Amino acid sequence: KEPLRVALLGSGVVGSSVARLLVESADDLAARVGRPLEIAGIGVRRERSRADVPVDPALFTTDAMELVTRPGIDLVVEVIGGIEPARSLILAAIKNGASVVTANKALLAEDGATLYAAAEEAGVDLYYEAAVAGAIPILRPLRESLVGDRVQRVLGIVNGTTNFILSRMTESGAGFAEALDEATALGYAEADPTADVEGFDAAAKAAILASLAFHTRVPLDAVHREGITEVTAADVASARAMGRVVKLLAIAELVDGGVSVRVHPAMIPATHPLAGVGDAFNAVFVQAEAAGELMFYGRGAGGDPTASAVLGDLVAAARNRAGESSGPGESTYASLPVRPMGDT
Ligand code: HSE
Repeated sequence: KEPLRVALLGSGVVGSSVARLLVESADDLAARVGRPLEIAGIGVRRERSRADVPVDPALFTTDAMELVTRPGIDLVVEVIGGIEPARSLILAAIKNGASVVTANKALLAEDGATLYAAAEEAGVDLYYEAAVAGAIPILRPLRESLVGDRVQRVLGIVNGTTNFILSRMTESGAGFAEALDEATALGYAEADPTADVEGFDAAAKAAILASLAFHTRVPLDAVHREGITEVTAADVASARAMGRVVKLLAIAELVDGGVSVRVHPAMIPATHPLAGVGDAFNAVFVQAEAAGELMFYGRGAGGDPTASAVLGDLVAAARNRAGESSGPGESTYASLPVRPMGDT
């Protein structure tokens, strides 16, 4: 069958994982979509050797705009991040008739409305599961699985860097600066950790979560934001003495018939399911009227975990293109033998 053509924008940690998995899992993905997925090109900022990505080097291009506006591009994956040129590229791709998968939380939180409107007008998909909490499937559950329920509250640990720092402060009594140094040394924190430690990254994710949970457009500037730079070893110790732990929470809840969204450090009881979320893990705790309490846990960052969410979206968007159902149902494309117990 005719392949669906995928343009990949970005070849950093996430982009190279996406490219590698697209190649390695090509047969499985083709079976799940009903048509093969072919990488048409990879937009990169600078030419350099890409030994880590197992694709024809001729696929790399520094002219991302030319790539996304090429005729016949079915799907565009944007994992470059930041506002520009990501926004212009996504809008051009949509105009060209491609469905778009993005992991760009900053852009969605700041100007999602423009992108959604463009996608709606063009009749294409715009999916962004990877933008919040990496590998954790949380946006589709909020948008689809829980759409018949009424969400009352979402509490999220949605920034791995700050969760790592606060976890280290809790475990070892380290101060903020010392724990941040450790996070940097381990590659969790970026060279400029401002977006993480000041809560900007979590605030963007909170705006996206709140918009989906409450079916309301929550702009980024409506999110109250406080980071963790003022949290001291003494704060962490006194929380502990009270049977509590300090976590940076993204909170979205119904208050007086409106939606309140905020990011700030909070002392939560050590018995709360979010209290046990250590290291650089993420988790999202949801309270809904009929469902009650739900918890989603996993890796919120990193190449392969984020690529997992990107590929899930890519398959969903590709199935829509291929005219296949992407809803839950029986998946009978696998050719694996079903083994009786003990037959290993
Ligand atoms: N800097 C982010 C984090 C990466 O630490 O969680 C994922 O968005």
